[in-house]
Amino acid sequence: MPGIRGPSEYSQEPGRHPCLKINAKEPFNAEPPRPALISSYVTPVDFFYKRNHGPIPIVDDLERYSVSITGLIDNPKQLFMKHIWNLPKYNVTATLQCAGNRRTAMSKTKTVKGVGWDVAAIGNAVWGGAKLADVLELVGIPKLTSVTASGGKHVEFVSIDKCKEENGGPYKASIPLSQATNPVADVLVAYEMNGEPLNRDHGYPLRVVVPGVIGARSVKWLDSINIITEECQGFFMQKDYKMFPPSVNWENINWSTRRPQMDFPVQCAICSLEDVTIVNPGKITIKGYAVSGGGRGIERVDLSIDGGKTWVEATRYQNAGIPYIADDMSSDKWAWVFFEANADIPKSAEIVAKAVDIAANVQPENVESIWNLRGILNTSWHRVQVRVGRSNM
Ligand code: MTE
Repeated sequence: MPGIRGPSEYSQEPGRHPCLKINAKEPFNAEPPRPALISSYVTPVDFFYKRNHGPIPIVDDLERYSVSITGLIDNPKQLFMKHIWNLPKYNVTATLQCAGNRRTAMSKTKTVKGVGWDVAAIGNAVWGGAKLADVLELVGIPKLTSVTASGGKHVEFVSIDKCKEENGGPYKASIPLSQATNPVADVLVAYEMNGEPLNRDHGYPLRVVVPGVIGARSVKWLDSINIITEECQGFFMQKDYKMFPPSVNWENINWSTRRPQMDFPVQCAICSLEDVTIVNPGKITIKGYAVSGGGRGIERVDLSIDGGKTWVEATRYQNAGIPYIADDMSSDKWAWVFFEANADIPKSAEIVAKAVDIAANVQPENVESIWNLRGILNTSWHRVQVRVGRSNM
């Protein structure tokens, strides 16, 4: 492959910030501590979670690096970086969330399979790049196309990295053509993260960013884009990242009965407190993030300091000091909001947070009702314990 040294060995992984909590070493999977996650609305690249299924590839010759666009189109093309750079550049602030976020907590109910994550398999970045809709126009697919003349209905992204789940083949995923060609969906072929070229961990030199959709579809280290009839048949579309009911186990699972998960549901988590925090009696700050999929804004975040018996509403913001209004032009549609409230804690308590999106979708109360064998989409009410006692806080 021109200009590409191929997937590196694990011995050639990039350097990472020492504060990251490593959930798996090879492939490298890590998340920041809770307070670091909410230290800024735009997550610094160093603190952004890293979710990989193989070694991080090395692309060492940008001039020879290209992405081929093939499949059910009349004129397949090989696009070089200069072609992508020449397209109009968009900056989209979008939250990426792994479907496995909060898996560790789901596993406490009944064991699930997968890398364990606390609440920080999520981050919010300003992604810079070309719109996929503009890229596809270069190969003759007009905006707002659902099906091409030759029957193409899905857009598959194939990566450079190789993973064991694909038997040594590349990571891949797809989205519907209607979403890919809709400029309003803001799907990017991104080359920047927070104003800097993507780093190796996050997909250098090009990755897809599909706002509002589970992170698994935002394919890093792009190698080719294929226009296909059916959804991508890769492992991560067909044998993973599907939401099953609690009754399904590894003996009775039939993967074909469920669709690949796309939008993520409404979610929130408290990040100013750990699962158990010892505090002095008095005021504490309850702060965290809330986000919903599909570009649905956050209508409300409810907080309880008595395990969910009574509730108060938290303030929400994207820019400190400016109240957030869901679905307003001034709000970042694809991005999380921070929520905050102060509470007086005279005695030990269970603090609970739940978010409601603009479609009035609300997080489920208990993890048991949404337990699934792969431990994805744990969006149950987020509960933390504060124990009043002697502390240094
Ligand atoms: N793309 C490739 N090529 N390989 C991967 O392992 N992981 C996916 C997605 N894209 C992955 C990938 C998953 S599951 C998630 S959640 C996001 O990338 C994580 O992106 P990040 O590491 O930039 O945070």
